[in-house]
Amino acid sequence: MQNYDVIIIGAGAAGLMCAIEAGKRGRKVVVLEHNGSVGRKIAISGGGRCNFTNSNTKPENFLSDNPHFCKSALARYTPQDFVALVKKHDISFYEKKLGQLFCVASSGQIIQMLLDEGAAAGVEIKLNCTVKSVLKDALFCVETNQGALLAKSLVIATGGLSIPKIGATDFGYRVARQFGLKIIEPRPALVPLRFGAGEGEKLTALSGVAVDVVARCGKVSFRENVLLTHRGMSGPAILQISSYWQPNSEIGLDLLPEQDAAEILQTAKTRKVELATLLSQYLPQRFAHAWCALHAPVRPLNQISDKELRRIATQLHDWRLRFSSTEGYAKAEVTAGGVDTRELSSQTMETRCVPGLYFIGEVVDVTGWLGGYNFQWAWASGFAAGRNC
Ligand code: FDA
Repeated sequence: MQNYDVIIIGAGAAGLMCAIEAGKRGRKVVVLEHNGSVGRKIAISGGGRCNFTNSNTKPENFLSDNPHFCKSALARYTPQDFVALVKKHDISFYEKKLGQLFCVASSGQIIQMLLDEGAAAGVEIKLNCTVKSVLKDALFCVETNQGALLAKSLVIATGGLSIPKIGATDFGYRVARQFGLKIIEPRPALVPLRFGAGEGEKLTALSGVAVDVVARCGKVSFRENVLLTHRGMSGPAILQISSYWQPNSEIGLDLLPEQDAAEILQTAKTRKVELATLLSQYLPQRFAHAWCALHAPVRPLNQISDKELRRIATQLHDWRLRFSSTEGYAKAEVTAGGVDTRELSSQTMETRCVPGLYFIGEVVDVTGWLGGYNFQWAWASGFAAGRNC
C-alpha cells in the first residue's frame, strides 16, 4: 500500500496546477495519468502554441448552470498570476487578439514549465496508470494497475469528453455518480455545427470560405469569422455560439456588421448592377453569389421593388440558420456541463458531501469561451484545490 496526502487523477492543466500548489505546501502528492505522457491537450492546444490564458478574463466569459460559482477561484488566481509564472520560466509569448496570450514557440514549453514546477514541489507522477476503483473509508483507496494507493484527499482532474482519441474519458462523471453527486448533462461545446436538410446544404460547395459576421443565439452574440465547411459551419464565431446552441434553436448571422444594408441597397438601386455583384464588394464573391441565389431574385437592382430590397436588407443583417447537430466530441474543443457546482465549495472545489473529494478543471460545470478562458479556469480551479487539499 502506497501512502500519500493527496492523490490527483488526471495530469492535464488542472491536475498539474493543483499538484504544484499542494506540493509547495509540503503535501505528499501523486498524480495518476493513464496516458504515457502528461498534458496531451495542452500539447495540441492553440494550434501547437497554447493559448494559455486570456488577459481580459471575467466571470461573464464562462457558461455554467450556476454562473456565480467561478468568481471566487478566478479572483484568487488571475491571468496575471499565470503570466508571472510564464515569465519566470522565460517563455516568450504574445497577444494574438482580444487578450488571447499564446506561446511564441510551442505548447511544449508550458508542459515543461508545469513539470519543472511540479518536480521542484516534490510531486510524483505515475504515467500509464489505470485506475480500477476508488473507495472511501477513513481514507480514499485508489486501486490501480500500479498497486493500491491511500490518501486523505482525492482530486478528480480528468477533464471532459472532447477528443477521446487523446485520452478523454467519462471517469470524472462516473466517480461523481458513485459518490451521489449531481451532473449537469455534458454536451459538446466550442464545436462546429452541421447543416440539416434545407438551404444550408446548398452552401456546402462553399467549403473553405470565411465571412466576418456577428453570430447570435438568443441574447448572446460574437463578432468573429465563420468558416463554411463541407458539412456546415465552423470558425471562431460558430465555435463560440455553439456553446449556447441547443437543438432546434436558430442562429442568426449579421453578414454586414456595422454597415447599413438598407442604405447600401437603396444607394445602388439606380444602377443596373445585380445584387450579387454589389454584395461582392462587401462579402467574399463566391459567398455573395451563393447567398443571392438562395435569397434574392436574379434581376438588376433597379428592377427589384423597395419592399423586396427592405426584406433582403433585413435578411443580410439577420440571416437565420438552423443546424441539425454539432460535430460531436471528436471535434469539440471542450465539454459543457459536468459536475454540478452546487455540490462543490467555490473556494476550494471540495465536494460538500464527501470531505476530501475535489473536482477541478473541465470536469466541473464551468465552460469558458474560446480564447484562453478554459485554461484559465483549469489553472484557477487547480490552484484553489491545491491550496486546500
Ligand atoms: P485535460 O483534458 O487537460 O486533462 C485531463 C487529463 O486526465 C488528461 O491528461 C487525461 O488523459 C487524463 N485522464 C482522463 N481520464 C483518465 C483516467 N480514467 N485515468 C487517468 N487519467 C485520465 N483551451 C484554452 O484555454 N486555450 C486553447 O488554446 C485551447 N485549445 C484547445 C485545442 C483543442 C484541440 C482542444 C481539444 C481543447 C483546447 N482547449 C483550449 C481546451 C483545454 O485544452 C481544456 O479546457 C483543458 O485542457 C482542461 O483541462 P483539464 O485539466 O480539466 O483537462
